[in-house]
Amino acid sequence: MTAPNGLSVGRELDFIPNNLRESLTDLLGAGYHFLTTPFRHPHYRSGTYPLGAVPSMFARPDTVLSTTEWRTAIVAKMDPDLDVDHPNPILRKKAEAALMADLKYAMHLSVVCSQICLKRRDNPNLARLLYSLILNQQAHVMKIWVTVPLNAPNSMASQRLNKCLENGDSIVEHDSEDTWQWWRAFRSLVDESEKFGLVLELTENLPDGHSMKRWIGEGIRCITVPTSIFVLNKAGFPVLPVPHQRLIADVFQMAGYVQFQVSGLNTKHHDKAYLEYMFYLQKKYARMDTYRYYGKGYEDQLQIPLQPLQDNLESSTYECFEQDPVKYHEYQRAIFHALQDRVPVSEKDDVVVVCMVLGAGRGPLVHRLLMAAEKAERKVKVYALEKNANAIPTLVCRNRQEWNEVVTLVHCDMRVWDPPEKADIVISELLGSFGDNELSPECLDGANKVFKPDGISIPQAYTSYLAPIQTPRVFQATRVMNHAGREDQEKPYVVNLTSFCRLAEPLPTFEFTHPSKESEAKDPDHNTRYTALTFKPCPTEATLHGFGGYFTSVLYKTVRLSIHPSDHSPGMFSWFPMYFPLQRPVQIRAGDRVTVHMWRLRDEHKVWYEWTITEPEALPIHNSSGKHYQIGF
Ligand SMILES: C[S@@+](CC[C@H](N)C(=O)[O-])C[C@H]1O[C@@H](n2cnc3c(N)ncnc32)[C@H](O)[C@@H]1O
Repeated sequence: MTAPNGLSVGRELDFIPNNLRESLTDLLGAGYHFLTTPFRHPHYRSGTYPLGAVPSMFARPDTVLSTTEWRTAIVAKMDPDLDVDHPNPILRKKAEAALMADLKYAMHLSVVCSQICLKRRDNPNLARLLYSLILNQQAHVMKIWVTVPLNAPNSMASQRLNKCLENGDSIVEHDSEDTWQWWRAFRSLVDESEKFGLVLELTENLPDGHSMKRWIGEGIRCITVPTSIFVLNKAGFPVLPVPHQRLIADVFQMAGYVQFQVSGLNTKHHDKAYLEYMFYLQKKYARMDTYRYYGKGYEDQLQIPLQPLQDNLESSTYECFEQDPVKYHEYQRAIFHALQDRVPVSEKDDVVVVCMVLGAGRGPLVHRLLMAAEKAERKVKVYALEKNANAIPTLVCRNRQEWNEVVTLVHCDMRVWDPPEKADIVISELLGSFGDNELSPECLDGANKVFKPDGISIPQAYTSYLAPIQTPRVFQATRVMNHAGREDQEKPYVVNLTSFCRLAEPLPTFEFTHPSKESEAKDPDHNTRYTALTFKPCPTEATLHGFGGYFTSVLYKTVRLSIHPSDHSPGMFSWFPMYFPLQRPVQIRAGDRVTVHMWRLRDEHKVWYEWTITEPEALPIHNSSGKHYQIGF
């Protein structure tokens, strides 16, 4: 049913095909990947049998398709007329029995995905039934696709409107036909379980841009495109109106991996025409820049932040860093300008600039330093220091084979190194996704004595940023990470954030500059920090799942590196953002302010962050005393 590297498009039918095998064969033959179909036998539409007396022949026999076909090519569509939240208890119970029978039969057939649709905001009984079924399934892995229309059908909206008018209520208060609220209420009832996937059904009218971003941030599993929305182009082929095309372009750009299904009748066209059009849209809009290309496969995946000080990085990690086309280029530019500033042209043949690469790894910055010196026509004396013994053989080899033995190699921790001379320029790259989280401040302060009094550090400064985000998919992933242990909500992760909605612009959090004053560098508390940030009020209702963490760095004067969303260094993929989760999702009303508090703390052995919010409500301090996450010295 999925096509991980391509586009997966299904066909959703409203009717029950008389010959399921034939319909499936036709669709798969046309290029569709799956079929979403009601599967109850036409003679026994749900609810046509009395409660407690389910006839034995209520569905087609499982032998119509093979188990593999049921599992890989069929989404079982539950009868949309079953109302398990009906106020009449008799009808409700009857609907419950029919829905449960259908779902259990779908499990019996090995169907991995069943689809239900929400038709109103409050669905407590539906949520209870499905949640219990999903929690209690034994070996089975069925997921539930929950279909929500982008806009409520007119009839519902006008019924609601009439009711408001009848009651003399304010219409705004009762504006519950924002269908995002339906989904939000439902996913809260099922405890944000990852077993429930959002299927967004396109409607003729589309919501405004912010609402759409909020939908995209929900982690959409599938988009249903009704045939009724298509219009004919000049050549007579079905195409989507421009606003819908734009929406799909945004989905391709921002939403990670999403499947599509074409629903409704195809009176005017062959099914293949819709499919070909979806592939055309993918080709047109799903373009890959370098960041997306290298981030492929990591979308919304949690990664434990590296700890290059406490642990030794592996060869594969160095190899991965070294592929970044932007980072090293910018370092080279920074070094080039620093060398030129350090030595006027008139002295270039006499003065030797002492340069030290601290934390050299396998040597890419050493190499760039030598290239910069050649280009700037400045003489340099180069030291390369690294504490990871496993990286030293590569440095020795490169020194011999590529650098003409001009580099003095040192195997040592920079904090304890006693250099034979002081440095004009110190180059390091000890930055994490949140700037200081790989302990660059502690390492460079430890090495503060290697700088000449007017020595330059590249980087000169770095600043971390936080932004409130809604991201059910990533939040769910933190829960799954360790069997829903609470501690996983109290650890930051590195994540290629894809399915998320930023609820406000990032604000600067902690700033560090280098080199430090000698007295400051010796003060152990010099790099502890606390800040409280209040973000611009959120324009719409939303759910806060935590904070995105970013950094910018001034390498030298105007040469910068940034993963700040508004000025991300183009094409740089060395750092994905950080995600600081909250223990639980927090509901935000339109106009609410979010205030986050963030601490950077230390003791003799470690550095850690603590965080919490006090607006719109107060939560417990997360990661108190570094209980769940710490960065070792
Ligand atoms: C993020 S890697 C960067 C490596 C390389 N400069 C590059 O850009 O590809 C940081 C390097 O600094 C080293 N490192 C971290 N803390 C150090 C310390 N206190 N003393 C010496 N090396 C350190 C790590 O072992 C690692 O090789």
